[in-house]
Amino acid sequence: MLFRKPSPTPPLHSLPSTTSFSKTKDPHNNNNKLRYTLFSCLILASWILFLHHHTRIPPSTDTCHGSGPLFYIHTLPSRFNLGLLQRCHKLNVYTNMCPHVANNGLGQPLSTPSWYATHQFIAEMIVHARLQNHPCRTWDPHAALLFYVPFYGGLHASTMFREPNHTLRDSLAVDLVHFLQSQPSWKRNNGKDHFVALGRTAWDFMRAEDGADFGANIFLKLPPVRNMSVLTVERQPWKGANQFGIPYPSYFHPKTLAEMLTWQNSMRQRARPHLFSFVGGTRKGLEKAKVRDDIVRQCGDSKRCVLVRCASGGDSRCHDPMKVLEVMSSSKFCLQAAGDSFTRRSSFDSVVAGCVPVFFSEHTAYTQYAWYLPAERGSYSVLIEEREVVEGKRSIEEILMSVSEEEVERMREVVIGLIPTLTYAHPNATNLGFPDVVDVALQQLSRRVKEEQLISIS
Ligand SMILES: *[C@@H]1O[C@H](CO)[C@@H](O)[C@H](O)[C@H]1NC(C)=O
Ligand SMILES: *[C@@H]1O[C@H](CO)[C@@H](O)[C@H](O)[C@H]1NC(C)=O
Ligand SMILES: *[C@@H]1O[C@H](CO)[C@@H](O)[C@H](O)[C@H]1NC(C)=O
Repeated sequence: MLFRKPSPTPPLHSLPSTTSFSKTKDPHNNNNKLRYTLFSCLILASWILFLHHHTRIPPSTDTCHGSGPLFYIHTLPSRFNLGLLQRCHKLNVYTNMCPHVANNGLGQPLSTPSWYATHQFIAEMIVHARLQNHPCRTWDPHAALLFYVPFYGGLHASTMFREPNHTLRDSLAVDLVHFLQSQPSWKRNNGKDHFVALGRTAWDFMRAEDGADFGANIFLKLPPVRNMSVLTVERQPWKGANQFGIPYPSYFHPKTLAEMLTWQNSMRQRARPHLFSFVGGTRKGLEKAKVRDDIVRQCGDSKRCVLVRCASGGDSRCHDPMKVLEVMSSSKFCLQAAGDSFTRRSSFDSVVAGCVPVFFSEHTAYTQYAWYLPAERGSYSVLIEEREVVEGKRSIEEILMSVSEEEVERMREVVIGLIPTLTYAHPNATNLGFPDVVDVALQQLSRRVKEEQLISIS
């Protein structure tokens, strides 16, 4: 049975018995009899109306399906989440995050309804807001299969990138672990049924004790956290056995299936005059991102490529979500080169735009988002070996030209079919009608916990 928020509806047995009203006080007075019968009908009708309004019989899409995963949200002291937002201008050493944390993390609305200028590292807030309104939420920890820890770890990590004192940099993470370990629900399974969602990459929480300090803390290295499932926009491909990739948020946050279908159809019908495009910048002196130099050069040299350079003083379209979408949705292929880390938000923008992503590393998507992407890589994407590009063996244009038109259309259809599950629906959607990022994560987490046979709840 589902545990729901206490509803204002009185239980049925406490309702006044309607039959008591049909008893006539004076059996000899027919007028009275009629009056009382009418009165009783009225009372009955108003109770039916009352029940109709107050016993929300949710539409089928607003229920937690079947044996659906039931999760409980830990009540954390606000220093672990919403409290951090009070200093939103200091959350990130590079950007004022205040406009980005607005609207439950969706950011500022764009001119088209359901579209927002969503920040790339804000998934943790959107996940939180969506789970708070989710039909599979339970208020009873004993009925829960999963426990969600609403920690805004990414927002906190970025406030501490420049903190030289490691004890201080790590202190909130250590504090959280102490808090969790004191909870009865943690003790039940040593945290194995707990999960946290992080809007930044795993690297930001896995400081290496030897080697260069890039500002990371040690959250994901704490032994209790290694018992939890960690959802992150980029997992550490080799050590992240308990880390699961979740998509970066894009800009589309629909509330209904109808909005989603309309968008998918418009992407199917788009004319795509450009063979490929690249939206991004180069990274000076970053070995990992060397391929970007070649991509920018090759794209710039090709008549079939649209280049939107993102650099200070670069193309202004780069920072305008709708302009980026415009470029991508008029291209057949969208190049997704690793940058500061393996993954990019842009891969998900490209899917939303119905543009087939071209990867240069298997860690940009294939080893990251196994819950979300088809196992058959070639069905929705192209992988070009980085060294082929860097060593100038083959041109990107040549490779993409060799894909037949039918093949491109087939891939595009798969990409467009992926849009719903790669979308963060509007957190206040009550009748969504399709599984989004958060629904897929809940299904997979619950499968994982059940497989480990952690819990047997009736
Ligand atoms: C969702 O609803 C709540 C309560 O009405 C409101 O405060 C919040 O701003 C809404 N979220 C968004 C993103 O519109
Ligand atoms: C680092 O911060 C901790 C906690 O505030 C403090 O106890 C310690 O003395 C600091 N270490 C240094 C080297 O400043
Ligand atoms: C992690 O889980 C294992 C197995 O349930 C348990 O033995 C271990 O003590 C847990 N570690 C922590 C730090 O809670």
